[in-house]
Formats: sequence, structure tokens, C-alpha cells
Amino acid sequence: MTSENAVLKAIHERRSIRKFQDDQVRADQIETILDAGRWAPSGLNNQPWRFMVLYTGDNRQNILADCTKYGRIVENAKALVIVFLDKQNIYDYTKDCQGIGACVQNMLLTAHSLGLGGVWLGEILNRDSEVMQGLNLDQEKYQLMAVVALGYPAEKGHSDRRQLKELILEDYT
Ligand SMILES: Cc1cc2nc3c(=O)[nH]c(=O)nc-3n(C[C@H](O)[C@H](O)[C@H](O)COP(=O)(O)O)c2cc1C
Repeated sequence: MTSENAVLKAIHERRSIRKFQDDQVRADQIETILDAGRWAPSGLNNQPWRFMVLYTGDNRQNILADCTKYGRIVENAKALVIVFLDKQNIYDYTKDCQGIGACVQNMLLTAHSLGLGGVWLGEILNRDSEVMQGLNLDQEKYQLMAVVALGYPAEKGHSDRRQLKELILEDYT
């Protein structure tokens, strides 16, 4: 689906990208992505997200790769944005997780708008303690929420969605 509306166009055209070109991702691109993340809505505007960024070549990239069955994606990413919940800044756990979801989607859409590709990695949360230890972060203070793998796309990505009518519980027209 195409649209003249830039937001709708990005929403419709963004796909998860799991293969990346060799080109590096720059710090200014990462800053644009993180900045879009921080403008996500959150309950009581508590902004519970915290970020860490690893660039390719960082030894910690391999530690993370070993913590997920999607390790090849982690290894090949040119940058990893690791997203945490600030446990000392919790308003409501469920709502904070929802806000962090909005934050991650903002970042994925922004990466797409910059010509980058990315994928939200959640399976790695199954081994969150190992990730936190590998990153030398205090689990009393932060909880791992997501890893976003980024780079210039080396694939188009494809996926589909259920028809809208399958999702509607009651006629709204
Ligand atoms: C909470 C969450 C966790 C995800 N975890 C993974 C993951 O661990 N590995 C992966 O390859 N993709 C993961 N994805 C990406 C989804 O597979 C993808 O968004 C979905 O298949 C739809 O494809 P699209 O993003 O291209 O539209 C995750 C997405 C979300 C929202």
C-alpha cells in the first residue's frame, strides 16, 4: 500500500530487516533514532526507557549474540540499540512496557525513514540475566526490554497482516 502521507507510508513500508550491508551506521543516525524513541508517549510521561548502543566490532556484540537463537542477526548488525526499563522510575509496570513498545516502534520507523533497516529482537529476553551480566549492568536498576539490530538493508524484508475485518469486534461504520 502506498500513501502520500509520510507517516502512513513509513508504517506500511517498514519491514523487519535481518540482513545488513557492510556499511557502518553513524553516531548521528543513532542519535536521530534515539531522539525519536524518547518522543514516544508514556504513562504520566515518565519516560521509562533507557538505551545503550553497541557498534560493530564491540566485543559485547558477541556476548549478546550468544544469548539468542538469532545470534547471526546480532553478529551482523552494524549497531545494536539495547532498550531497558528503568526500574527506579516505574509508574505502572504494564503501562511502562507499553510505552517502551511505542518507543521501539518510533525507532524502527525512524531507522526506516533514514534508509536503514532494523529488527526488534525479543527472543533474547529469555536470557536477560546473561545479557545484563555481559553488559555489566545492575539488574536491580534496569530490566532488558528489547534489542534493536540496525544496519543498511541487504534484503527487502516481507511480511503480511490479517485483514482488518478479521480484527474488528463490532461494526464501526
Ligand atoms: C515484541 C517483539 C519481539 C520480536 N522478536 C523477534 C526476534 O527475537 N527475532 C526476530 O527475528 N524477529 C523478532 N520480531 C520481529 C517480528 O518477527 C516481526 O515484526 C513480524 O514478523 C512482522 O514482520 P514485519 O516487522 O516485517 O512487519 C519481534 C517483534 C516484536 C514486536
